[in-house]
Amino acid sequence: MNKKVALITGAYKGIGLEIARQLGQQGIIVLLGARSISKAQEAADVLRKEQIEACGVELDVTDGNHIRSVADLIKLEYGRLDILVNNAGVYLDHLGNTPDVMRSSFEVNVFGPQALSEALLPLLKASPAGRIVNQSSILASLGTLLSNEMYGSRSAPAYTTSKAAMNAWTVQLSISLRDTNVKVNACHPGWVKTDMGGESAPMEVSEGAETAVWLATLPADGPTGGFYHKQEALPW
Ligand SMILES: NC(=O)c1ccc[n+]([C@@H]2O[C@H](COP(=O)([O-])OP(=O)(O)OC[C@H]3O[C@@H](n4cnc5c(N)ncnc54)[C@H](OP(=O)(O)O)[C@@H]3O)[C@@H](O)[C@H]2O)c1
Repeated sequence: MNKKVALITGAYKGIGLEIARQLGQQGIIVLLGARSISKAQEAADVLRKEQIEACGVELDVTDGNHIRSVADLIKLEYGRLDILVNNAGVYLDHLGNTPDVMRSSFEVNVFGPQALSEALLPLLKASPAGRIVNQSSILASLGTLLSNEMYGSRSAPAYTTSKAAMNAWTVQLSISLRDTNVKVNACHPGWVKTDMGGESAPMEVSEGAETAVWLATLPADGPTGGFYHKQEALPW
């Protein structure tokens, strides 16, 4: 198999689908993860009509059985994985400031990506250019929350702390993979028009996918262990 293979989580809609599209347009085989297999397959059908090699996979990132099945499928069907984009995420703070909301947010935004990455590391390490991209948010930047009135004006403890934990884990994982070909970075897509970002967001998904796509296709001398938006490093 000469073509690169990428897995994108939460990829049947929004920024995830657009990341898959833009990676596919570069000739990369894209596997679209979604909790619903039918939604994953429908999204893959859309991309295939655009001449992109795409396949839908059932993947709830909080489900260990799904993670194991996807890892086995990739190994058997493709024999390689070059790119993992941990894009699936939830913003649940509107449900209240409760331990359950905090726990559920960490399950999807932190523990899921961590378990999935661990399961896929053997394949990523075997790639000549393994790349892990963690879809974070500017709201994870503690420095920004404290210094920027707009970002600091709204309280969202579950989202911000889970994405900040994702950022801290990104750094830890990059340290543990320092002697490998695998680069790990976190990114902020921008404020993007999606179900999560809402209609008033200024950015379209095509622009929102750009940072993750750049990090997913970094050259060998590209950065690792960073937090980026549009190729600019962001404060932690
Ligand atoms: N839009 C923005 O302005 C913005 C800004 C900063 C960061 N982000 C980040 O960008 C990422 C994509 O968000 P988006 O804006 O494209 O929002 P979106 O359209 O709501 O997409 C979120 C995706 O995550 C999936 N997801 C949720 N829980 C999951 C789970 N347990 N397992 C697998 N998939 C799950 C959703 O699938 P279901 O429909 O099945 O739940 C959906 O496909 C998120 O990580 C978000 O935090 C977005």
